[in-house]
Amino acid sequence: MIRIRTMLYALACAVLCAACTPKASFVEESLDYCVAQTRRSLDMLQPYDYMMSPRNIAPGDSVWHQRPVSKELWTEGFWPGILWYAYEYSQDESILEAAKGYTEVLEFLSQQPAYDHDLGFIMFCSYGNGYRLTGDERYKDIIVATAERLAELYNPAVGTMLSWPREVPTFGGHNTIMDNMINLETLFWAAENGGRPELRDIAIAHADTTMKYHFREDGSSYHVAVYDAESGDFLRGCTHQGYADDTMWARGQSWAIYGYTMCYRFTRDPRYLEHACKVTDVYLKGLPEDMVPYWDFNDPMIPNVSRDASAAAVVASALIELSGYVGGEKGQKYLDDAKAMLASLYENYRSGDINPSFLLHSTGHRPAGSEIDYSIIYADYYYIEALLRLKNL
Ligand code: GLY
Repeated sequence: MIRIRTMLYALACAVLCAACTPKASFVEESLDYCVAQTRRSLDMLQPYDYMMSPRNIAPGDSVWHQRPVSKELWTEGFWPGILWYAYEYSQDESILEAAKGYTEVLEFLSQQPAYDHDLGFIMFCSYGNGYRLTGDERYKDIIVATAERLAELYNPAVGTMLSWPREVPTFGGHNTIMDNMINLETLFWAAENGGRPELRDIAIAHADTTMKYHFREDGSSYHVAVYDAESGDFLRGCTHQGYADDTMWARGQSWAIYGYTMCYRFTRDPRYLEHACKVTDVYLKGLPEDMVPYWDFNDPMIPNVSRDASAAAVVASALIELSGYVGGEKGQKYLDDAKAMLASLYENYRSGDINPSFLLHSTGHRPAGSEIDYSIIYADYYYIEALLRLKNL
């Protein structure tokens, strides 16, 4: 299988290099494609309504389905995040202006109690990238304010943030979902950039508690962990978006891989590095030949079920970072796997002329019948992030 993956990557490089101008490496070709699709989307969105957020494109459709910005929409940070990355690569001032516009309408979310943990996704993909590229101090203050809103979800008896306050009656306790790992980045970052040092303590407690209860022996994760809000006792692991309580939901596992890699970036705690490798290895072992997972690794209907290109993009991005921490032969394998994932996404999953997104074939919430085999905005966000990480190695 490893030989096939290596061949896939080599083939993609050869095809791309042969077909294109002398400038075109595989990574640049893919990034050029992302910028072209971004410009195409921007043209279609004119005149911009910054309060409308591109979310998905259904199979057979050719325009972004947009949703109004609101605290209940977890995805509105990804489109400005894509614009920041596209600007970073292209240096196109018109993309910069759009990135600012789509980012700055989100400020109000940092000034009110968090609807749920997704606030971190919303604000760090937008303002985090905006601050990284502009150094605008207002953006920094907004990220620190967001971290404070997230910290209000923290329950010290449990040692994690409550992910979905509205779902406490459904799950019968304090619920924490694997996706919440990504939002620790806002806390770690804020603690290093003018916020309270306790924000970092909360992030560490959350990562430690999650590491203890949220995984099975083999490193695969539950989507949801439920705790007693008073005693902090772990009650059970279960699912919300996966096939079943005891299966490995692909995007949930991708959040775990990305999350523990990021925790290691901020802490250099070897326990996080070891855990990041463990949760990565069980994911890599279960991948199909083309490196893009089925939506849940244990759906009995495989191969006649949808893929999740978004999970592949998240993991590719994380693996590029993780490979640098691991080093040696294992680190090189992670990097080769990330390249093979990106090559496969470009070769087999790109939207091209079909629609203006970057990627086809993601799965949002299959058990709810929602966004199955769609283009979804967060797939594109992590795809362009991964490509830029590879370019900047
Ligand atoms: N954070 C929600 C999801 O991954 O679908």
